[in-house]
Amino acid sequence: MAAGLLRFIVANAAEAQIFGVKNMSQLNKMRLQPPMKAMVSRAVLLSIVLLSVCLVGLTANAKEPVAPLPEVLSLDPAKVRLGRELFFDPRLSRDNSVSCASCHDLTAGGDDRRRYSIGIDGQVGVVNTPTVLNSGYDFRQFWDGRAASLEEQAAGPIHNPIEMDSNWSQVLAKLESDAAVVAAFKDIYPGGLTAETVADSIAEFQRSLVTPAPFDRYLRGDEVAVSSLAKRGFQLFKRYGCVSCHQGRNIGGNMYQRFGVFGDYFADRGGGSSADYGRFNVTGRESDRYVFKVPSLRNVDITSPYFHDGSVATLRRAVRVMARYQLGVEVPSADLDALVAFLQSLTGTPLGVEQ
Ligand code: HEC
Ligand code: HEC
Repeated sequence: MAAGLLRFIVANAAEAQIFGVKNMSQLNKMRLQPPMKAMVSRAVLLSIVLLSVCLVGLTANAKEPVAPLPEVLSLDPAKVRLGRELFFDPRLSRDNSVSCASCHDLTAGGDDRRRYSIGIDGQVGVVNTPTVLNSGYDFRQFWDGRAASLEEQAAGPIHNPIEMDSNWSQVLAKLESDAAVVAAFKDIYPGGLTAETVADSIAEFQRSLVTPAPFDRYLRGDEVAVSSLAKRGFQLFKRYGCVSCHQGRNIGGNMYQRFGVFGDYFADRGGGSSADYGRFNVTGRESDRYVFKVPSLRNVDITSPYFHDGSVATLRRAVRVMARYQLGVEVPSADLDALVAFLQSLTGTPLGVEQ
């Protein structure tokens, strides 16, 4: 039922993109079949919500369902610098061997290009490492959205037994024995060095990892910032309905969706672990099984392999998988070329990183 409803809404959103939002109610009428009657009121209600989201989008940004990144950030530079040091500091792990940057390489897309990361004692993770670039704009953190903010997220890897396998008292004891670190915290935070201020500075640093790309310049009116193939790809991205899930400033990162709206991705792939259950692991609700945070597509060209399971090596194939399982369409090769060119125009350079 929930899947059916989602399919209905996604299809509506996709078609609304093609025909224009004005025809939404007409579309609803056209598509109504007797077994769907029970869903009608909810579906219409959700369509109205969707419509208002579109309208809010319209007023906020001329006409696009995606928005450019800011070109200037208002962050505290001292906190950003301190957070940067901690991000690269292996003392955050039990045996001083692993830093945040071990898995989130800022010179390589903010992830590590592996299917699964290697943490402390060579242990292998269970989900693909997402990029930290632009993560400050995501509505929740982690594939299953279990952390509400970057501040809350930071404690995750520090305590994770296969990532850094440490805890706040260990980390703070090590940092407290470093006079320079203690002084730096005292300068910036009235409360000095605490778990909260460590997490706060790391979060502030990550909020500086914003990556304006050629596509942002195009959105701001620079017609020659991207190729004509990329422009066609953006039109297709909207027409196929990718934009019903990947939208906003991060071209994703602002909602949860099921992986496998059309067809059973997990049965077709085979194998797997409980990490595939996604949001279900957080809420225990059956309707959340296989539901994930829709990832941002910024810098996606340089963050292979793809999906929470790291199962797909090329962007072209990831787009085909998405079209098949999320939209129920097979995309012709020429359209794939254009979609990939559009996604490549989303690769940018972090603003806040001192090169
Ligand atoms: C051993 C590898 C490893 C280390 C070390 C590591 N991470 Fe991660 N990071 C991951 C993985 C894997 C995930 C995804 C986990 C999940 O979603 O369940 C992740 C997720 C994240 C996310 C969420 C991104 C998103 O799109 O949801 C942020 C932010 C992040 N890490 C920052 C950090 C910070 C800060 C540190 C250091 C304190 C750190 N990571 C250390 C592997 C690592
Ligand atoms: C119904 C919602 C929905 C639609 C429509 C959709 N996606 Fe996705 N997309 C997702 C979700 C959810 C994921 C994460 C899946 C996972 O790994 O568990 C994802 C992941 C991706 C990824 C992998 C990102 C990464 O970092 O691993 C790419 C690339 C992508 N989508 C592109 C597209 C394109 C192109 C289209 C249109 C052809 C599209 N998506 C349509 C929801 C959607």
